[in-house]
Amino acid sequence: MRQEEKAGLAWTACFDASKLPKVTPHARCRLRLLKQERIRDFLILEEEFIQNQERLKPREEQAEQERTKLEELRGTPLQVGNLEEIIDEHHAIVSTPHGPEHYALIASFVDKDELEPGSTVLLHNKNHAVVGILDDDADPMVNVMKLDKAPTESYADIGGLEDQIQEIKESVELPLTHPEYYEEMGIKPPKGVILYGPPGTGKTLLAKAVANQTSATFLRVVGSELIQKYSGEGPKLVRELFRVAEENAPSIVFIDEIDAIGTKRYDTNSGGEREIQRTMLELLTRLDGFDSRGDVKVIMATNRIDSLDTALIRPGRIDRKIEFPLPDEKTKRRIFNIHTSRMTLADDVNLEDLIMSKDELSGADVKAICTEAGLLALRERRMRVTNEDFQKAKENVLYRKSENLPQGMS
Ligand SMILES: Nc1ncnc2c1ncn2[C@@H]1O[C@H](COP(=O)(O)OP(=O)(O)OP(=O)(O)O)[C@@H](O)[C@H]1O
Ligand SMILES: [Mg+2]
Repeated sequence: MRQEEKAGLAWTACFDASKLPKVTPHARCRLRLLKQERIRDFLILEEEFIQNQERLKPREEQAEQERTKLEELRGTPLQVGNLEEIIDEHHAIVSTPHGPEHYALIASFVDKDELEPGSTVLLHNKNHAVVGILDDDADPMVNVMKLDKAPTESYADIGGLEDQIQEIKESVELPLTHPEYYEEMGIKPPKGVILYGPPGTGKTLLAKAVANQTSATFLRVVGSELIQKYSGEGPKLVRELFRVAEENAPSIVFIDEIDAIGTKRYDTNSGGEREIQRTMLELLTRLDGFDSRGDVKVIMATNRIDSLDTALIRPGRIDRKIEFPLPDEKTKRRIFNIHTSRMTLADDVNLEDLIMSKDELSGADVKAICTEAGLLALRERRMRVTNEDFQKAKENVLYRKSENLPQGMS
């Protein structure tokens, strides 16, 4: 017992004694010995650890040095940009999504063979030197249509459509903010909604307003983008889209112009068509895949609901269908008011004529008329917009609209 104790004391002598805990009881007894043994064990452990550290240090330091060298070159954080043009061996023109183009250096360690105009590259955040290439795998992931900035449109910019706003609030916003309501009620909230109606009736506008209003992550993608921009990657992109949505939950996935991928399935041999169908099948799988009580909601918009595959919009997938009709007189008045609110109107302007006329005007037409009237006034360097401007503008807009129609339909 004595020997043990001596050893213990010797140990403590090597180290700064003040660091060691006080050992009680002071009398020499078994309890004291046990405690001291524990301290000794700990110290041995510590010594081993320090020795290991010494041994491993040079290697780690070297690795660290190399890493810092690389980091210095690469710089963090990096920017994602687009390679516009390769000038010579070491220089290129690059562009960033929200900024101007730069004449930048290509770092020596970048594989020049893989660089080609149009590829997505990693850029140094200050001098915009190209420091890496993103392979195609990463491209859609990084660029995935996450809306960082909320759109500026709000509910106040929408004329009429009260029922539609109410419905989208109930089926998209409320389940995200108050899922317990639905649980109490004993019903499952809808997984998603589809907005449909003639062109220019405010479908995209409302979806943007929802994005503005909720704090949820908002992912936006246009149907045609899924098949054109990333040709051959449609199904993968859909998977990616929902994965990102789930990772960033609560989130809203907005697929505009869904008819581009959601048309009825039929036998086809063309590769492009098959790709579209695979994209849609993937979409169906994803819709089935997630739980409706989950934090992901889907909004789709189309102006050709009759051409959609019924499987896509059957209950259980997209349960709610919200129709956007052409605006009635009351709504038209509201829309006119919204779009003329910032214009200076002459006293003789009589919007009622336009509102009460029998012509079919969509929200977008109303907006076009207001803009056109403003432009007509501007052409004559007038600051006030007169009634005549509005009349002319309406004629122009209607004329253009009828010209777009195929022959025989106007
Ligand atoms: N109810 C409305 N209130 C105010 N503005 C409207 C309304 N409906 C449409 N607009 C105007 O028309 C423009 C086009 O509308 P929007 O893009 O929402 O049409 P859409 O229904 O998505 O059409 P499409 O089916 O062709 O995609 C909007 O930017 C907006 O300025
Ligand atoms: Mg739209």
